[in-house]
Amino acid sequence: MSTETPRTLTEHAVEERLHELLGQERFPPPPGFAAQAEITDPELRARAAADPVAYWEEQAGKLRWSTPWETALNDSEAPFYRWFEGGRINVSDNCLDRHVEAGNGERVAFHWHGEEGEQRDVTYAELLDQTARFAGALRDLGVQEGDVVGIYLPMIPEVAVAMLACTRIGAVHNVVFGGFSAGSVAERMEVSGAKVLVTADGSRRKGKTAPVKPEVDRTMGGLQGLEKIVVVRHAGLDDVPMTEGRDVFFDEVVAAADPVDPVPLDAEAPMFILYSSGSTAKPKGIQHTTGGYLTGVTTTLRQVFDLKPEEDVFWCSADVGWVTGHSYIVYGPLANGITSVMYEGAPDYPHKGIWWELIERRGVTKFYTAPTAIRAAMKWGVEHVSGRDLTSLKLLGSVGEPINPKAWLWYWHVVGGERCPVVDTWWQTETGAMVVTTLPGLDDAKPGSAGTPLPGYEVQVLDAETGEPVSEGEGLLAIPRPWPSMLRTLYQDPDRYRSTYWERFGESTYFVGDSARIDKDGYIWVIGRVDDVINVSGHRLSTAEVESAIVAHPHVAEAAVVAQADDLTGQAIVAYVTLQGETKSSDEVGDEINAGIADRIGKLARPKRIVWTQDLPKTRSGKIMRRLLRDIAEERDLGDVTTLADPSVVENLQERWKAGA
Ligand code: WT7
Repeated sequence: MSTETPRTLTEHAVEERLHELLGQERFPPPPGFAAQAEITDPELRARAAADPVAYWEEQAGKLRWSTPWETALNDSEAPFYRWFEGGRINVSDNCLDRHVEAGNGERVAFHWHGEEGEQRDVTYAELLDQTARFAGALRDLGVQEGDVVGIYLPMIPEVAVAMLACTRIGAVHNVVFGGFSAGSVAERMEVSGAKVLVTADGSRRKGKTAPVKPEVDRTMGGLQGLEKIVVVRHAGLDDVPMTEGRDVFFDEVVAAADPVDPVPLDAEAPMFILYSSGSTAKPKGIQHTTGGYLTGVTTTLRQVFDLKPEEDVFWCSADVGWVTGHSYIVYGPLANGITSVMYEGAPDYPHKGIWWELIERRGVTKFYTAPTAIRAAMKWGVEHVSGRDLTSLKLLGSVGEPINPKAWLWYWHVVGGERCPVVDTWWQTETGAMVVTTLPGLDDAKPGSAGTPLPGYEVQVLDAETGEPVSEGEGLLAIPRPWPSMLRTLYQDPDRYRSTYWERFGESTYFVGDSARIDKDGYIWVIGRVDDVINVSGHRLSTAEVESAIVAHPHVAEAAVVAQADDLTGQAIVAYVTLQGETKSSDEVGDEINAGIADRIGKLARPKRIVWTQDLPKTRSGKIMRRLLRDIAEERDLGDVTTLADPSVVENLQERWKAGA
């Protein structure tokens, strides 16, 4: 227990301190932290760079393999790389059995907190028992190695059980974020050919309960390949509609099943698919495999969060439906045998200080969240943090979008009390694990820059014209060498895999899709996406996907969606919409458009603003000029518009924008 009394924070004092810190370019590891850190040897990076494959072999060797690999990296069919070929391993064995056999079964895996104040501690032994039984239940339901299992669940321990159970028997999970609509889940189940879906009776959000199962029935009832639906009783709803012969309750099948042992799987056996947005309306099924993915997430979490399994209480505030949740709520923490917090609820329910309350109550040592959440906390005010004892914290992490220096400093000062290094971790669904950041006991942090590549990785900023590496300046981010946790393909679409990632710079240099600046010290400053992907609160959405949901409305003739910089969410969605025919009022259509987007994609994809217009700015060949629409939304000078078919269109739009119409 700490002897310090909790700090009293005032908005004024914080403002003054941030002002003082704003000019400081570098933040070395705080001495107290550096003194106890695991990695302090600057030679580590150089050693890994000298022989990256040997380095990754050394990391993979820390896991439990049932058969050792023969070839560490097979690049003979690049860009379809294979890692640890010939090896056999099981993910759930490494996450659970291994720790229980080592005598750590009584260690808590998850301190679960429900949004109505419920608490549940799940130990490693309990998680193993549930996982082994649910794996048996999945088998009883007809799931075999290679079959796809959909998972559409809230943030509850059962989501980890369902994922781990899949890995135990070699089923491929396809988790869909609980905030996406059932319609969008249906699409992902259909295209992935899911055989079983694991879902819940209902979900809870800020005191309201919404039925989930009836929505699942409405949107997925007719899916041919979907044979079974498993329902977790979570929201306490009565009268859950159950179809005889197809639907079963999670608790009943778990109780009835015999536990099964982990199946040794090929290192390259598909482990999961996760759909993510790209340049077109069709989401990409990003596919990861077993041995390399586990090696990547286990190594990076241990190094970057300086894990101490005996002491740490880790909390990653993401949702399991995103890659951050896969890698750093489920697999990374469990493979490292640490205790985590899992929280079901919203950051402002039942009050705006709930996160800090949970950190204090659980003695969280390492906390990992997103810039958008930090900016929201800043906006809510320091009074919600003031008086909390956050001295258990030792390290803070950020992920999902660039963090602006002011939010970085607030996190450092207000949350971390200037004792905790802040690691800004850059990575993607495709990379599977963290790639660029600072090693907290070794590297200086620069607020706003993610840092440099982790050991074993190489990252470059390439000139957009020549494709040559830029030593200092701006360009396109690229990874010129394969890494174990990289995506292997896009599910059932190898051509799109090739064209999306390996056409721009050739088949040995991975095209990231971000633009970035590299400074004289080799620090990377991510600028943003170069494709039509919008990053709202760290959530990836495609302009094309939102546009097609809008034009589905019968009164909409045309729509163009762009990103607008936003103080809170990083980027926000702005939609320019042209109506056709005899219309209702635009307010009414606007409501219907929003409802349609919520239904097809999810509430998070609703535009912040809809601008009604007679026409969209187009080139003479009819191409919509989205750049101009962005400039209008960000109130920038439009420059030369004479190439437009009708230049007056943008003038009208500018006026409408400023008038707030
Ligand atoms: C895109 C990937 C990484 C898991 C969550 C998002 C942006 C991510 C950072 C960061 C600047 C970042 C990039 C990237 N991004 N982390 N620390 N600094 N930008 O995964 O949904 O696949 O999105 O998020 O633009 O390409 P994702």
